[in-house]
Amino acid sequence: MNFVFEPNPSPVPASERGARLADPGFGRVFTDHMATLRWSEDKGWHEGRIHARAPLTMDPASSVLHYAQEIFEGLKAYRLDNGSTALFRPEANAARFQSSARRLAMPELPAELFVESIEALVRTDRDWIPEIEGGSLYLRPFLIASEVFLGVKPAAEYLYMVLASSAGSYWKGGARAISLWVSHDYTRAAPGGTGAAKCGGNYATSLIAQQDAIRRGHDQVVFLDATERRWIEELGGMNIFFVFDDGGIQTPPLTGTILPGITRDSILRLARDQGLTVREELYSIDDWRADAESGRLIESFACGTAAVVTPIGKVAGPDYDFTIGSGATGQTTARFLESLTAIQRGRAPDPHDWLKPVA
Ligand code: PLP
Ligand code: COI
Repeated sequence: MNFVFEPNPSPVPASERGARLADPGFGRVFTDHMATLRWSEDKGWHEGRIHARAPLTMDPASSVLHYAQEIFEGLKAYRLDNGSTALFRPEANAARFQSSARRLAMPELPAELFVESIEALVRTDRDWIPEIEGGSLYLRPFLIASEVFLGVKPAAEYLYMVLASSAGSYWKGGARAISLWVSHDYTRAAPGGTGAAKCGGNYATSLIAQQDAIRRGHDQVVFLDATERRWIEELGGMNIFFVFDDGGIQTPPLTGTILPGITRDSILRLARDQGLTVREELYSIDDWRADAESGRLIESFACGTAAVVTPIGKVAGPDYDFTIGSGATGQTTARFLESLTAIQRGRAPDPHDWLKPVA
């Protein structure tokens, strides 16, 4: 399918765009265009368009507004050092979007259409990639139930959209070692639930825990498993890794309650390529604390598309707190950040063909 191109008749002037790109932060600066595509039971996927970004007109009875049948993705386009533009592992996001759709009883968007919609939008708005250190174009594909009906059932009509947002650092004031609050009150996902799907509802339920973490002076919340409240799962929008004094790294396994992060998967592959010992095993909050205190655990970091690789400096819970290593960025964390971003910027060989050039 071709996405019909309808240029924005009044794009943001170049000088104003330049001003917005100087320090875009995350998630506030949007480009001139967006992609849309519709699905209905009788027509399947149809009406693909790249057009001016504009507010939606929606019937207030659209089912997504009531029952939250919604999924999304997050991936980035980078300007490479040679001036070209590339996406990082978009097929992996396409596959996860399909698996999220299955879990939410929504139609699966064919991977080619997912990638095509994103390529067409990036091609149109590539001038919105900021030329600053760490700058990228964050792509936000999402699918909503648009049927006008208040009955509780999978909708018969859906609207797929892609937004593009100029991004600098996810963290206000730039990257630094973050402080985590371990939530013993709230959980994010339970066995049989939607933890492995990227659906808006997961984030809605995480907000109170994140708010609690911020109120207590921390940057992010870390969730424990819902059954035993013992095993470390992930943050609200990032996976987590642990680095030990024997050089091995560990991350929680994909048991269905955490998001299978594409950054997580990339780091596991890079670590295996480097010959590191890699464990995808459960790790308890008690062990994390004891190992940090004994020195067996030397680093921890969070990772995700938005957050890239972010060191964890401090951890606290209701009646404990501990520091990871020196409390600053560790060597292994810095090395993963460097090797991942070098591939994403075309500065290092790409042995797994992760970069997809946008012509
Ligand atoms: N975990 C959650 C809950 C997330 O929202 C994200 C972000 O997408 C991740 C992990 C990391 O996933 P990825 O590396 O694919 O961005
Ligand atoms: C991402 O890293 O793409 C995320 O989705 C995390 C957060 C912004 C929701």
